[in-house]
Amino acid sequence: MYPLRRNRRLRTSESMRSLVRETIISPNDFIVPLFVVEGKGVKEEIASMPNYYRLSLDLLEKEVKELWKLGLKSVLLFVKVDDTLKDNSGKEALNPDGLMQRAIKTVKNAVPEMLVMTDVALDPFSVYGHDGIISDGKVLNDDSSAVLAEMSLSHAIAGADVVAPSDMMDGRIFEIRTLLEDEGFFDTGIMAYSAKYASAFYGPFRDALDSAPVDSKDIPKDKKTYQMDFGNREEAIRETLMDIDEGADIVMVKPALCYLDIVREIKDAVNVPVAVYQVSGEYAMLKAAAEKGWLDHDAVMMEQVTAIKRAGASMIASYFAKDVVKLIS
Ligand code: PBG
Repeated sequence: MYPLRRNRRLRTSESMRSLVRETIISPNDFIVPLFVVEGKGVKEEIASMPNYYRLSLDLLEKEVKELWKLGLKSVLLFVKVDDTLKDNSGKEALNPDGLMQRAIKTVKNAVPEMLVMTDVALDPFSVYGHDGIISDGKVLNDDSSAVLAEMSLSHAIAGADVVAPSDMMDGRIFEIRTLLEDEGFFDTGIMAYSAKYASAFYGPFRDALDSAPVDSKDIPKDKKTYQMDFGNREEAIRETLMDIDEGADIVMVKPALCYLDIVREIKDAVNVPVAVYQVSGEYAMLKAAAEKGWLDHDAVMMEQVTAIKRAGASMIASYFAKDVVKLIS
């Protein structure tokens, strides 16, 4: 008596396995998040994100040239601004000579073909560390969306290819799309953080930008009135379909690993590219375990990014992008 099918035949050697492998990671899969600060020659390691740095504009220029040589062709910019520039209106976010606007120009000057995506949300500019404007202890939806649209336009004027609203206000994609069209920015893309969960995995990112919600009894202590509850599935589809209706070119699920079921469902439900953000806490977790010698860093990293792609990601925003590309090249 023999088994009728021997699936192990297709696993007998690496040559065979590579022939039948269904999911292959390439540099084209990645968006590289970058943190930008004021100054010159500044390269500050983020305490909770080993080997990840905040860079001043001169070093940002060096970095994007290196990324381009490695085959990484899109970056997602975040800025950390001085506390004195923060308020409750997001005014600094609209400064035509602000750090983000200069960062966009720096990347475009250094590597004109590099795809520049920009974070659109108020938290790095908010005295309260929230993604919108606060009034009476609440995050205002429509007033915040209006500022986010102005912010997007300002990024487009500075040369951004894609704006990436990460705030989760209702209707903001429509506001942004309408303003961009009104102003003639027909080719500016919108990558909407559509299914963004209220996740504890964002901790290290908030360290990187010093953007955590402030601890005060008058201010919401978390982002649960706008980011999604992690118990929900249908809501993720609803959010995503609405963002597409409102004019999103790319939709996003965030974080990655705890939400791969959502990634697959959204991938099957929509016909636009689906981005997945492997967030700061997911990065920190592996770095910490690897530092202790408890996990094999490179092996686990490849398993994770491959799983994200297998689940349906058209592209992955990941702090591991450079590590992965160095490993596979
Ligand atoms: C905020 C924003 C966050 C991230 C991207 N944009 C954090 C948050 O919502 O508080 C998280 C990214 C990461 O953890 O890597 N608009």
